[in-house]
Amino acid sequence: METVKCIKERRSIRKFDSSREVSKEQIDAVLDTARFSPSWKNTQVTRYTVLTGDAKDKLAACTNIWAKNGDIMRSAPMVVALSIVDKRSGYERDGSPSTPLGNGWQMFDCGIAAQSFCLAAFDAGLSTVIMGLYDENASEVIGIPEGQILTALIAVGYADESPAAPNRKELSDLVTYKS
Ligand SMILES: Cc1cc2nc3c(=O)[nH]c(=O)nc-3n(C[C@H](O)[C@H](O)[C@H](O)COP(=O)(O)O)c2cc1C
Repeated sequence: METVKCIKERRSIRKFDSSREVSKEQIDAVLDTARFSPSWKNTQVTRYTVLTGDAKDKLAACTNIWAKNGDIMRSAPMVVALSIVDKRSGYERDGSPSTPLGNGWQMFDCGIAAQSFCLAAFDAGLSTVIMGLYDENASEVIGIPEGQILTALIAVGYADESPAAPNRKELSDLVTYKS
């Protein structure tokens, strides 16, 4: 798919066709593209945990903060949890932050990886939604290893809805030119 079309036409999907599975080969192909994302000094701190079946349904219960995300996860055949290896991106070898943004860069890196993941999935005919609303115990329920931080959940599957594109701000609201 053409890159600009992929960026503009990807939509967050919140209702999936639960009768259609996503195979290991399919998700591996998407992850294989996401791993080419840029990162701070090529530290590549983003990690991916692929959840299906019981593991996914246990995670879907960790949504008291916003129950709708639980419904999304139950309808999706797969949820991918993104985590980051803490305090490597944006840090010097001696452990001191390289810039005043401190650990802001690790979220920056993970955000890029999340977008690469969603675009690669869309290019492969799959739909996604990034979810930032989940309960505090989600990390433990998934089994995120010590030293990593759970940063986002992405539901993956075949769309069972086709929502209109939400409004975007005009370029003039976003851009400042200076010379
Ligand atoms: C960091 C982040 C967190 C998000 N969290 C949620 C969420 O918890 N639940 C949800 O349904 N959508 C969530 N979204 C999806 C946004 O609502 C969606 O991207 C936005 O409304 C624009 O729609 P679009 O993705 O179709 O262009 C999240 C998106 C991002 C980038």
